Amino acid sequence: MQKTDPVTHADHVAVIMDGNGRWATARGLERLKGHVKGVDRVREVVRAAPDYGIGYLTVFAFSTENWKRSEREVTGLMNLFKRYIRGEAATLDEDNVRVRFIGDRRPLDRKLRSLMDELEKLTETNTGLKLTIALNYGGRDEITRAVGRIAKAAKMGMIDPAEVTEQMIGNFLDTSDLPDPDLIIRTSGECRTSNFLPWQSCYAEYVFTETAWPDFTVAELVKTLNQFRARDRRFGAAVAK
Ligand code: IPE
Ligand code: IPE
Ligand code: MG
Repeated sequence: MQKTDPVTHADHVAVIMDGNGRWATARGLERLKGHVKGVDRVREVVRAAPDYGIGYLTVFAFSTENWKRSEREVTGLMNLFKRYIRGEAATLDEDNVRVRFIGDRRPLDRKLRSLMDELEKLTETNTGLKLTIALNYGGRDEITRAVGRIAKAAKMGMIDPAEVTEQMIGNFLDTSDLPDPDLIIRTSGECRTSNFLPWQSCYAEYVFTETAWPDFTVAELVKTLNQFRARDRRFGAAVAK
């Protein structure tokens, strides 16, 4: 496996971890139990990622649209995020993982925000896997916030509107320090992006799997990486002879 070849190597893998609720309901459990099980899978995938040459792993934990869910589920998820950070911080640090969050933190409660800040600070100099957790993330929201900041900078005379480039826009996004995803996996059968990384994913390969996230083992990850490898990434160029 060539580490630097984006055609064969998925350096940045992003995951839409879907199907927790259905997984639980199908077993007569409350939806939250599916989210709890999902956290086990996150732990395993984070642990395994470097073994498969993954340098960047981005996981969609909560979308800007997920506030539409019941108060019970939203509160349960927020508590789960807190529990995950508290329980996992030391291990992530020992494993040399650098953790960052993307999304709008302002609507999150103060305790969660401070745990997020602490985890980022604790792991900021780590040189292993770059784990990005999308929490209260929405792609349109991210672009809207970026455009607001660009407009403000232009108004202050710091940006010349004639010199706006794709790269500049990328630098204003939450993902400014990340390469574009090579592979985006969505579990649980839905074939849509649900507002995940719209700007960054324009040349990503998608793998949609029927497996629900609580059943997404490392073996499933390996299967999707093999599917990725069989793809022909052309980035707009002609088909190779
Ligand atoms: C994904 O699982 C987790 C979050 C969106 C937080 P879901 O909760 O969307 O599970 P389904 O899609 O309802 O089964
Ligand atoms: C996307 O899943 C969000 C996360 C995985 C966090 P959803 O379950 O919210 O997406 P839709 O509603 O099915 O499009
Ligand atoms: Mg869902």
